[in-house]
Amino acid sequence: MTSYQDVLQHLKNHQYRWLVTGVAGFIGSNLLEALLKLNQKVVGLDNFSTGHPHNLEQIKELVGEEAWRNFSLIEGDICQLEACRDACKGVDYVLHEAALGSVPRSIQDPIRTNESNISGFLNLLVASRDAPVKRFIYAASSSTYGDHPDLPKIESVIGRPLSPYAVTKYVNELYAEVFARCYGMGTIGLRYFNVFGPRQDPNGAYAAVIPQWVAALIKNKTLYINGDGETSRDFCFIENVIQVNLLAALTENSDAVNQIYNVAINERTSLNQLYEMIRVLLLEKFPHLQHYKPEYVDFRKGDVRHSQADISKAVRMLGFAPTHRINEGLKQALDWYIADLASEKGRDAK
Ligand SMILES: NC(=O)c1ccc[n+]([C@@H]2O[C@H](COP(=O)([O-])OP(=O)(O)OC[C@H]3O[C@@H](n4cnc5c(N)ncnc54)[C@H](O)[C@@H]3O)[C@@H](O)[C@H]2O)c1
Repeated sequence: MTSYQDVLQHLKNHQYRWLVTGVAGFIGSNLLEALLKLNQKVVGLDNFSTGHPHNLEQIKELVGEEAWRNFSLIEGDICQLEACRDACKGVDYVLHEAALGSVPRSIQDPIRTNESNISGFLNLLVASRDAPVKRFIYAASSSTYGDHPDLPKIESVIGRPLSPYAVTKYVNELYAEVFARCYGMGTIGLRYFNVFGPRQDPNGAYAAVIPQWVAALIKNKTLYINGDGETSRDFCFIENVIQVNLLAALTENSDAVNQIYNVAINERTSLNQLYEMIRVLLLEKFPHLQHYKPEYVDFRKGDVRHSQADISKAVRMLGFAPTHRINEGLKQALDWYIADLASEKGRDAK
């Protein structure tokens, strides 16, 4: 299998059992939807700390009753080894997404972040090793580049971590490497850059920038831009993330296993540019945005100034071929947020 099309074709003809941790969250729920649409069997593990039952209800509606029967949910915590062992039973591929995200959250509460992101990660590695599963794919992070100034980022050159979150994500990579060496496990770490798309939570103190801003603009509330707005990121639409997870799980290239890959587009967008792109896309449906002005506040602690991924390693080794650049992704994400806002009102009314 050399391309995503081959992988999709293969999955249509072969049914595997997948474990998706963090299945009620943003990335996990999108992976679940993609797998169920490919007639795969999926076990989900989530403790609903930041994920939502309504994400799962939405997928049930999207995939239909028959595909939904291929899904089973374990409500549990990866900090409990037994829950991880239960979840790994009979599993072929693990897509490990469960973690406490957000740099500011980790600065506020490093102990909780450490528990889920390091102890929980280790539990799942042990359970996956013992099951044993065919391959363990996990969510790493661009935060691992820390204070290294080079752009674009290449996987082998990292700096010092800038937050407790970044420490945890780097430790994941170290553990995965050691489990390959000591126990012969097959792991692949995907260093996601800023992922966005449907079901990314717009609410709460630690919401990611795109859903937070979209919600503020639609509701005509204040939108805050950190610093001078020239901080930049390599924003990656969720469809590209789904693609690379499936490629990583099914790659037949043995050199591609036990590696780390950047996952993004290799494009840099400043916060000011991002704000303007979203405002313009929303303008047609929300005329109040014609004269809208954002509010500039202090820089955020622990944030890296610029981020951009060199993705040539994933392209070369995994056959990664991103299908959505930021603007295409934003259009799809905005349609979803506009619809979700209406159903959010419905949910609140219940
Ligand atoms: N979204 C991004 O831009 C981005 C960037 C880099 C890395 N990541 C990583 O990708 C993964 C998924 O992120 P996301 O954006 O979907 O976040 P999310 O918060 O939407 O999803 C995480 C899910 O994990 C669950 N979870 C958290 N701790 C758990 C625990 N101890 N036991 C069981 N379930 C637990 C949550 O309830 C939630 O459903 C995380 O590992 C995150 O660190 C995300």
